[in-house]
Amino acid sequence: MSNSLEGKIAVVTGGSTGIGLGIAKRFVSEGATVVITGRRQAELDAAVAEIGPKASAFRADVAVLADLDALYAEVERTHGRIDVVVANAGGGSLAKLGEITEEHFDSTFAINVKGVLFTVQKALPLMRNGGSVIVTGSTTSIMGTEAFSVYSGTKAAIRNFVRSWILDLKGRNIRVNVLSPGPIDTPALRGVAEQAEGLIDYLTSQVPLGRIGDADETGKVAVFLASDASSFVNGAELFVDGGMAQV
Ligand SMILES: NC(=O)c1ccc[n+]([C@@H]2O[C@H](COP(=O)([O-])OP(=O)(O)OC[C@H]3O[C@@H](n4cnc5c(N)ncnc54)[C@H](OP(=O)(O)O)[C@@H]3O)[C@@H](O)[C@H]2O)c1
Repeated sequence: MSNSLEGKIAVVTGGSTGIGLGIAKRFVSEGATVVITGRRQAELDAAVAEIGPKASAFRADVAVLADLDALYAEVERTHGRIDVVVANAGGGSLAKLGEITEEHFDSTFAINVKGVLFTVQKALPLMRNGGSVIVTGSTTSIMGTEAFSVYSGTKAAIRNFVRSWILDLKGRNIRVNVLSPGPIDTPALRGVAEQAEGLIDYLTSQVPLGRIGDADETGKVAVFLASDASSFVNGAELFVDGGMAQV
């Protein structure tokens, strides 16, 4: 435990499980107060119990703009401001070209693209000079992955959002960066693996470090991007992938 985020107020969407939970836990261990979101109340309650008293939960679907308005109204009422936003909620499932449905496309883009855009845009009025925005991307933003084009397209889209947003935010002194995980052991990865036998072994073989990652390893990098340690890092995509997308 140290204090690189002492006194900071952070919002982590999709903070109830997986990577978001790993980030929220690390933020609190570094001194931050964290508001996590997600759609399932039971998972939110369990996460708050796990993270401790410096965490609270607000049930909100990032694809529903009224939910985001309610979230930020509550954050303003309870904390008055935001220092760090992690637009992390997201996910995807497998569908090959030829099998992609309109529903698959719309639901994936609604959460991963529209949700990220409005999570960030609606936070801005509450964000202070010196704030940090972190968007959870993916190695798929720059790689081709069989049966994963729709998901991969969402991650490529938000990667460019960040390049453009740092220009829109000129003068605000708010940094925006992408944290792009490779395969990380989370409920989502295990869910996709149920659709594709042998996926975890295959992914492990593609990672130069020879293993999949842990959510805490993304949490440690998020602390760096949230804190003053990264004060001149802006618009970057930082891969937390054991080298997978670099070879
Ligand atoms: N795991 C990996 O290998 C990996 C690799 C690259 C990138 N990523 C990215 O990392 C992020 C987190 O993934 P994960 O693996 O940690 O998944 P996860 O364990 O399934 O966690 C996803 C979190 O997001 C929440 N969520 C999902 N849809 C939401 C919505 N519409 N509104 C609000 N919250 C929502 C979930 O809670 P509810 O379901 O209750 O809403 C949960 O808290 C995603 O953006 C994913 O694309 C993951």
